[in-house]
Amino acid sequence: MTETYTIPVTKAEKTRLGDVDFTKLPFGKVFTDHMLVADYIDGKWQNVSIQPYGNISISPALASLHYGQAIFEGIKAYKGVDGNGYIFRPFDNFKRFNQSAVRMDMPEVPEDIFIEGMRQLIALDIEWIPAKADHALYIRPFMFSTDEVIGVKTSEHYKFMILLCPTGPYFSEPAKIKVEDTYTRAAQGGVGYVKCAGNYGASMFVTAEAKRQGYHQVLWMDAVEHKYVQEIGTMNVFFVIDNKVYTPSLEGSTILAGVTRNSAIQVIRDMGYEVIEEPIHIDNVVKAYKEGRLTEVFGTGTAATISPIRLLNYNGLDMEFDVSSWVIAPGMKKILDEIKERKREDVHNWLFKV
Ligand code: COI
Repeated sequence: MTETYTIPVTKAEKTRLGDVDFTKLPFGKVFTDHMLVADYIDGKWQNVSIQPYGNISISPALASLHYGQAIFEGIKAYKGVDGNGYIFRPFDNFKRFNQSAVRMDMPEVPEDIFIEGMRQLIALDIEWIPAKADHALYIRPFMFSTDEVIGVKTSEHYKFMILLCPTGPYFSEPAKIKVEDTYTRAAQGGVGYVKCAGNYGASMFVTAEAKRQGYHQVLWMDAVEHKYVQEIGTMNVFFVIDNKVYTPSLEGSTILAGVTRNSAIQVIRDMGYEVIEEPIHIDNVVKAYKEGRLTEVFGTGTAATISPIRLLNYNGLDMEFDVSSWVIAPGMKKILDEIKERKREDVHNWLFKV
């Protein structure tokens, strides 16, 4: 990374900071004063700039609207007790973003633009980082194809952008999740491990149906047998059985390699518990529940953070949990929160100073 690299900035005429109620921050609806924009033209990234947040003009023939070459990431920045802003593990998301780009036949974004652009954007909007428990500045880097053509082919032009949203908790209460055994999210060889827009588009109908039935999200199962758990709508999933922690393994690449998933595994191991990454058969989850050996179920994600699940429905069976008696998920969340706020030593070097 070039240290002297400075991105041209057009400042917003007036900050909107005073108009925002920081006690009510619905996820993804409040945007900071500025955004980063870059264009991929003639085989290289150019026109990198920071501009006032606002609408962009697009062609109705924009290729990504038709064929979905569109990828994104979710990252968070926190206000440390030392008053500085810190981005949590942005290099891990940077790496995953470019893995998504490769699978979708899109150009990779260089570190100067992704990381340094993000840092300079946040530095400009630093006052927007909420300094409150369970609050953060959500960072949304994304890229989409911008060729103006209806033909089905890899685009030659792309736009990369970063938006920032101050945000509070994703769920207002412990989640109720339905195990989905009809529809599937991802199959081997597909794009399950890719953070592409289409994965989420394909989930809307199924999630909406689950919401109509009173659940927050669904837990997806494998596409072949509909028996092995994969991931929840916006989270990876963990089960505590016999005081050991189980989460689906990444092999076969049908699930997202969550950065929060990885952080949770590390912190739980630091706490002295065993974490087992392996294929998880839903019948074993049900059996452990019936025998009183399944004590905690939780989701992990950047937006969702560490979200306890108080009800898991499978095939008519409601598996219910008393979240208040849990040890591992809240203990791990507390450690992660303390690291993010710089109240605890960042032993794994996860924080990147703005
Ligand atoms: C995230 O956790 O950052 C996600 O991308 C999940 C969701 C909000 C789409």
